[in-house]
Amino acid sequence: MQQLVWELPEQLCNALCRCRDVVVSGEVPLSIAVAGMGGSAIGGDIIGGLLAERCPVPFRVVRDYRLPAFVQADTLFFAVSYSGNTEETLAAYDQATRRGCRVVVVTSGGKLGGLAERRGQPLFQVPAGLPPRAALGYLLVPLAAVLEQVGVVDGLTSQIERAAGLLRRCRIKWQRQAKRIAKSLFERLPIVYSTSRLLDPVADRWRCQLNENAKVMCHTAVFPEHNHNEIVGMGSPESLRRSVLLILYDRFTHPRTARRVAQTLEIARGTFERAHRLKTEGRVPFERVLSLCMLGDMVSIELARFRRVDPLPVARIDSLKERMRGKR
Ligand code: F6R
Repeated sequence: MQQLVWELPEQLCNALCRCRDVVVSGEVPLSIAVAGMGGSAIGGDIIGGLLAERCPVPFRVVRDYRLPAFVQADTLFFAVSYSGNTEETLAAYDQATRRGCRVVVVTSGGKLGGLAERRGQPLFQVPAGLPPRAALGYLLVPLAAVLEQVGVVDGLTSQIERAAGLLRRCRIKWQRQAKRIAKSLFERLPIVYSTSRLLDPVADRWRCQLNENAKVMCHTAVFPEHNHNEIVGMGSPESLRRSVLLILYDRFTHPRTARRVAQTLEIARGTFERAHRLKTEGRVPFERVLSLCMLGDMVSIELARFRRVDPLPVARIDSLKERMRGKR
């Protein structure tokens, strides 16, 4: 897993090359939906964060069996499942096909791959044999490439190329930083706060990677919403004494939001054992998002090492899927 995390920039470049083989044409859609779960959904979230202030049409990630009503024939619908066998994604895909959506599939195979092939739908084949959460590049890049091809936004793939360069240049430095952060998280509850819509999915990525790789609980919340509810909950410090804050900042975090975080930390002084302020690196949005994603992935691996757990297996996810199999 450490190697897979390290190779994210190479994976991004490889994914960009693979995308040249599949062309999706057609008009600009009236809405965009991405169906996926867990490690297969986060790529959609990242794109959603990036497009939050740029996308001219609604963009929604659906993590459920049923689709919202707006998903119709004029929707561009992505079904993303690494295994191709995730039942929630298959159900949403089925519904999208019946509604006549323009469907694009991203998978390594499974039932979803078979169905897409039979129906002649555009299919981005992801290399098999990886844990889905370690296939972030392969699951994310096709979405960006298609959105460019159909004219929703431009410049995303060139941003990804730039991001790959930044990750390559910075990964040694982040590795050292990740070790220090992970040490402070040992036997503590990590609490990750994001401070802009660009960073909300990054906080989610940190939580999921800490859950699955380091096998620990993690809490996330977003600013400025935090100031309208969670700030009150922070007033019960006995439950937070063994927790560490990780605050994700971006150069474009709204100045009023940055002030809110500073004021919140003043109010909550002494509540948390420690607070790390982590800032995105790079200039373009993809560089900034992926810089903190990669750091978070590395922290999860280092924490797994401190805890002496194997980051690779996710026995509980597997056994739950096994329990659900074949039962209606
Ligand atoms: C495992 C992982 C999970 C899966 C999820 C959906 O690495 O990250 O969150 O991604 O259970 O399965 P797939 O990705 O096969 O659709």
